[in-house]
Amino acid sequence: MCGIVGAIAERQISAILIEGLKRLEYRGYDSAGVAVFTDNQQLQRCRRIGKVAELEQALTAAPLVGRLGIAHTRWATHGAPTEANAHPHFSANDLAVVHNGIIENHEELRARLQGLGYVFSSQTDTETIVHLLHHLQKTHADLGDALKAAVQQLHGAYGLAVISAKQPDRILAARSGSPLVIGLGIGENFLASDPLALRQVTDRFIYLEEGDIAEIRRDSLQIWDQAGQPVQRETVHYKESAEAAEKGAYRHFMLKEIHEQPKVVQRTLEDRLAADHVLIQAFGPQAAELFSQVRNVQIVACGTSYHAGMVARYWLESLTGIPCQVEVASEFRYRKVAVQPGSLFVSISQSGETADTLAALRNAKDSGYLASLAICNVGTSSLVRESDLTLLTRAGPEIGVASTKAFTTQLVGLLLLTLALGRARGTLDAAVEAQAVQALRGLPNLLEQALGMDRQIEKVAELFAEKHHTLFLGRGEQYPVAMEGALKLKEISYIHAEAYPAGELKHGPLALVDSDMPVVTVAPNNELLEKLKSNLQEVRARGGQLIVFADEEARMENGEGTLVVNMPHAHELLAPILYTLPLQLLSYHVAVLKGTDVDQPRNLAKSVTVE
Ligand code: F6R
Repeated sequence: MCGIVGAIAERQISAILIEGLKRLEYRGYDSAGVAVFTDNQQLQRCRRIGKVAELEQALTAAPLVGRLGIAHTRWATHGAPTEANAHPHFSANDLAVVHNGIIENHEELRARLQGLGYVFSSQTDTETIVHLLHHLQKTHADLGDALKAAVQQLHGAYGLAVISAKQPDRILAARSGSPLVIGLGIGENFLASDPLALRQVTDRFIYLEEGDIAEIRRDSLQIWDQAGQPVQRETVHYKESAEAAEKGAYRHFMLKEIHEQPKVVQRTLEDRLAADHVLIQAFGPQAAELFSQVRNVQIVACGTSYHAGMVARYWLESLTGIPCQVEVASEFRYRKVAVQPGSLFVSISQSGETADTLAALRNAKDSGYLASLAICNVGTSSLVRESDLTLLTRAGPEIGVASTKAFTTQLVGLLLLTLALGRARGTLDAAVEAQAVQALRGLPNLLEQALGMDRQIEKVAELFAEKHHTLFLGRGEQYPVAMEGALKLKEISYIHAEAYPAGELKHGPLALVDSDMPVVTVAPNNELLEKLKSNLQEVRARGGQLIVFADEEARMENGEGTLVVNMPHAHELLAPILYTLPLQLLSYHVAVLKGTDVDQPRNLAKSVTVE
């Protein structure tokens, strides 16, 4: 959830570090800092509370000029967001560390190190690492050896980088549970927690694996695996263009990412559809054989990705007859699960680094599942690397903290999975699959039409700007869509939003409805439409203001207290994907009206790599 950047070069590296931090700021942004081994042979640092821009300003006023440095943008876990808690942390002014993750035994380490005379200047778990390293250097003269000894004593998750004033020709790095990537240059090398941070300096990367330690010099690199053996890791060429991480003409990343959806959905479908069926091989070479044995599906994910899983349950059970359970990863990982024979474990994640989802996958490996499948946006992520099968969602980098294009491409991936499983099991009617494939081909165009409603939705947003509470209603597979709409609104506008299955209204939440409580509903033209209309009457009768996103064929009309926004008619299977877009746009415009920080809402981080 925090971000790390490091650089060793012949040129000045401060600007590279700052640019890298800006690109990582979406991961954590309550404080930031940089440590540089300066040209006058001193290890110096600058740290600031708030965004990277604050740090940049401070460095403009008092530059740190040097060719070796590490930097960090923080999302506080241990200790409040203060300057003292910001990374890099120092020991004895000659050792600096930046760290992502959590050291679980930090209290015990802190007590031991204090006993040895170390004085702590922060409340962080990270500071224990730097003092431990300093202490170990007394018996391990080489920094690499000291780091190898130190990681033996660390419990928890870390991606960390170290520099030393005594050995200023290298950056040391270690990974366990928190991703790190080395960026390869010519006569210079870099390190980051996400390649996005280094796209302005290189397109060649080496991903560290779990337990790896790396020593990065200006023109050489050495990696040791978990067992301490030297290893070679593959160099990957990054194909995504650097512009993918830039806002372009859009005011916010979120808006840009909402508008990218037709394009990225198109990309997610590419080479995965034959004329009338889904290509099962898209899930991996063993998918056909494994899918034919699937009797049950267990989906695990967090947040928005969990909502995608909830939609998939409706698709899977209704189209293929395969039972499906969906659970949030933070619960699933600590539960003793009764696994049915022939169960496929499916994890869904934008980042592929979410700690709870990864832990759930790791637990699942020993629990008797038939196989694991990751539906993920990051091909090099831990989740993908540790799963048997993968479907990449190809949404491209998602920078806005509120997930948008990642969600709709996950839904596309899950619909492909439904069709592939149904065919492999022989439980899906071929004509139904052919119709679904045909409909999927038209999806980008349908999404384009929904985006055309942007101005209309901007006006609707005005109804919300002064409100404090809202309800979102949906039925069937639109219930998780309503949940996703509510999550978007609360995340970025800070308006309290709750989602209910419309039929539950009179079992409690109806008591909340009055003229101050807008009620948002998604109403595609399906067999539940008539029931939904009666639920809406219940709201109107209590003076509630209704905002209904309705299929143009549903014949719902504007009236007093009822605002109907007509949606293009869509195949029933596509409705959850289509109806997500107006809800995203609504949240976006409400947040803009309220003046909140759309791309980096308070208290949140893009990728939750700690528990
Ligand atoms: C909400 C949001 C989060 C993530 C969740 C899981 O807009 O982005 O709820 O969906 O933290 O993240 P991933 O999908 O990376 O596992």
